[in-house]
Amino acid sequence: MKEVFERIRKVAKSDSTVLITGPSGTGKELVANAIHKLSNRAEAQRVSVNCGAIPGELLESELFGHIKGSFTGAISNRKGRFELAHQGTLFLDEIGDMPLLLQVKLLRVLQLRQIEPVGSSDAVDVDVRMVAATHRDLEAQVKDGKFREDLFYRLNVIPVKLPALKERREDIPLLISYFLDRFTSADRSNEISFSHEAMDLLMSYDWPGNVRELENVIERLVILRGGNEILPEDLPSKIYRTNPLVSSQYKTIFELPNQGVDLKTILSDIEDSLILQALSRTGGNKNQASKLLSLNRTTLIEKMKKKGLEMGDSV
Ligand SMILES: Nc1ncnc2c1ncn2[C@@H]1O[C@H](COP(=O)(O)OP(=O)(O)OP(=O)(O)O)[C@@H](O)[C@H]1O
Ligand SMILES: [Mg+2]
Repeated sequence: MKEVFERIRKVAKSDSTVLITGPSGTGKELVANAIHKLSNRAEAQRVSVNCGAIPGELLESELFGHIKGSFTGAISNRKGRFELAHQGTLFLDEIGDMPLLLQVKLLRVLQLRQIEPVGSSDAVDVDVRMVAATHRDLEAQVKDGKFREDLFYRLNVIPVKLPALKERREDIPLLISYFLDRFTSADRSNEISFSHEAMDLLMSYDWPGNVRELENVIERLVILRGGNEILPEDLPSKIYRTNPLVSSQYKTIFELPNQGVDLKTILSDIEDSLILQALSRTGGNKNQASKLLSLNRTTLIEKMKKKGLEMGDSV
């Protein structure tokens, strides 16, 4: 994220087109805002359009405007978002959802820096800095013929990639204290703390909804918590239950001795031990044992072969 922030600071002052990519909830809109605020265009408008939310037919007039009578319902001239963003920044969100036909028109606008309102043949000059974002893999879309390659290169002048939260877990504690501040009155935020176990769970959860999901979880915790220390059982069940660290029967296995461990050896030992326990509990029945271990039967057999774990006669 430091690299991302560095890049934002560097590119903000230029007029180059920025393409922000990353999974849902990673902060793409936040970054687009920051680029505008740090730019020389900060005094002018930041206009945004969600290309995925507006049906194709309307999107063209939304972007470029229309003149009276150009289609049913066009009762007066209307300026498009490009013109509204004149001298400012235009944020095209969910650009990966833009219909192909409109992609052609957008490419033309980017090349000529001119728009033509729907129903008009008079070009209007626009001075707009473009920032686009998508949660889709645009290069894959290009390969599948769903996104124009030439437009992709035009947009992707400065790429900003936002990593999923699980790829930057060290940000989790920082984000948590930021959200705690936000959701409690400033003077009371340090009254709330997390037990070690609760923090471990928050750090090891995969956060499929990324920062947005974390934000929602913290907001809920602040409102619903019983005491000032948040314990594992206060966490949403998806975080609390799916994690093996919670179950106290595993705790001794995972307790780190003072002198440390050799992780590879110990993981392999734990695996051996659990496989042998499952086999002995099921009388050597590999079908049942594999169920106890949530493995495929063939995976279990492969592991046993690799590890030389054979148990005499078995099913
Ligand atoms: N680094 C961050 N610091 C603080 N808040 C963040 C950060 N990143 C994201 N958020 C918050 O997470 C939420 C989701 O962010 P945002 O809307 O920018 O995500 P997005 O990538 O545009 O998601 P989507 O693809 O679903 O539109 C917002 O409320 C935003 O304020
Ligand atoms: Mg967004």
